[in-house]
Amino acid sequence: MDDTITTILKRRSIRKFTDLPVELEKITRLLEAAMAAPTAMNGQPWEFVVITERKVMDKFRSTLMFAKMNAPAAICVLGSSRRQKNKTGDKFWVQDCSAATENILLAATALGLGSVWVGIHPVTLFKRQVSEILNLPEGVTPLNLIYIGYPAEEKEPRTQYDDNRIQWGPFPASQQAKSNGLKPGDGLIFSKGDHDDH
Ligand SMILES: Cc1cc2nc3c(=O)[nH]c(=O)nc-3n(C[C@H](O)[C@H](O)[C@H](O)COP(=O)(O)O)c2cc1C
Repeated sequence: MDDTITTILKRRSIRKFTDLPVELEKITRLLEAAMAAPTAMNGQPWEFVVITERKVMDKFRSTLMFAKMNAPAAICVLGSSRRQKNKTGDKFWVQDCSAATENILLAATALGLGSVWVGIHPVTLFKRQVSEILNLPEGVTPLNLIYIGYPAEEKEPRTQYDDNRIQWGPFPASQQAKSNGLKPGDGLIFSKGDHDDH
């Protein structure tokens, strides 16, 4: 099988880590993978915070409800209105930063590292907690924390493929919704006020 597909199936959420630190060269490779991701109109509305300090990791663990895992390092993916190359990021930053996140998870797997995506946006409390711990400046929003380290647990490669989730071709006309829910003006790519607050 193609190596890429193998890596995609091997990627699993790892929540138990050894004490081994992650080499800075490997973290740099992860960030290169992140910034190879596609973004809407190549807007690149992202920044990344790398955390390897034990004190800061401990602060995450003691503060954030779903971030208790013993990883030695984390990358916080930020939506960035201050660094984005154009206004497209106002609309698409979550998708753009999620594509970068998945690239980090896959690259980590390929490098023999374990990782898990800890969701932060859109939960206001989590965003405030991460912003305080990392002293985040104006113009950025934390999408997530990606915990990274050498795995201390093994998980089977797998897909969750399910035939019931797939419609080959259009749905039969009888199943069409009465209205598509669109209002006048919704077809505009950039309508006024239609942006997020990162
Ligand atoms: C947006 C998002 C938020 C997530 N948040 C958490 C989290 O806070 N804590 C956690 O342990 N896992 C979190 N996960 C990982 C999921 O629980 C995991 O991907 C899912 O159970 C499927 O398992 P797998 O990653 O091993 O395939 C998150 C995943 C996504 C995509």
